[in-house]
Amino acid sequence: MVKPFFINSERLTIRDFKKGDEKDIFDILKEPEVQNFVFYSQKEYSLADASQDLRIYLEEQQKKKRDHYFLAVELDGKVIGVVVLGQIDPVMKKCYLHYHFHKQFWGKGYATEAIREAIKWSFTELPIRTIEAETNTENINSRNLLLRLGFKKTFSVAQKPLKEGVFADVEIYVLQKEFT
Ligand SMILES: CC(C)(COP(=O)(O)OP(=O)(O)OC[C@H]1O[C@@H](n2cnc3c(N)ncnc32)[C@H](O)[C@@H]1OP(=O)(O)O)[C@@H](O)C(=O)NCCC(=O)NCCS
Repeated sequence: MVKPFFINSERLTIRDFKKGDEKDIFDILKEPEVQNFVFYSQKEYSLADASQDLRIYLEEQQKKKRDHYFLAVELDGKVIGVVVLGQIDPVMKKCYLHYHFHKQFWGKGYATEAIREAIKWSFTELPIRTIEAETNTENINSRNLLLRLGFKKTFSVAQKPLKEGVFADVEIYVLQKEFT
């Protein structure tokens, strides 16, 4: 049995996903302002998409050695955010950070609080020294979040191809364990 992920921060619980979370995942991603920056598309996100995503999250949890930690951020019994420590590479000691939060809960410091805990945990418990994050240049909230967390901008990419027919200016940020 793999030990479940569970951390309590000042106001939040950061935990593994569980059955029944699909409605909260859907509520977060149905907002165009959230999902446009996550998928870089106008695709309509459905409850079936949320169920499929949850299936992937639950499958990943069963692995002895996880490649990704898909984490639910819970406030008062509701999942208000998703934090992903992804593509964990124990050789390069690196992973990629992704996140998206329910729009209703923006501007309250919840993303900063949850991600700070996840990062602290990853630097202690995983073979990780470098965390990379990418953000759309227009995504001011995301850029501010990364800077608040101590990430440093390494470079910008103009019109990066993100998926077929979709290009965007993006910025790459890095956080290194040695500098935290
Ligand atoms: C990126 C995203 C998670 C950032 O959310 P956010 O609400 O701006 O970030 P936080 O939860 O950390 O809140 C920070 C804000 O709360 C304010 N705040 C209020 N109370 C606070 C508290 N107790 N502690 C800390 N900050 C607090 C901060 O001042 C800050 O506001 P500011 O940006 O106006 O200075 C959110 O915009 C989102 O989900 N976007 C869509 C998905 C997305 O873009 N993902 C990234 C893809 S690259």
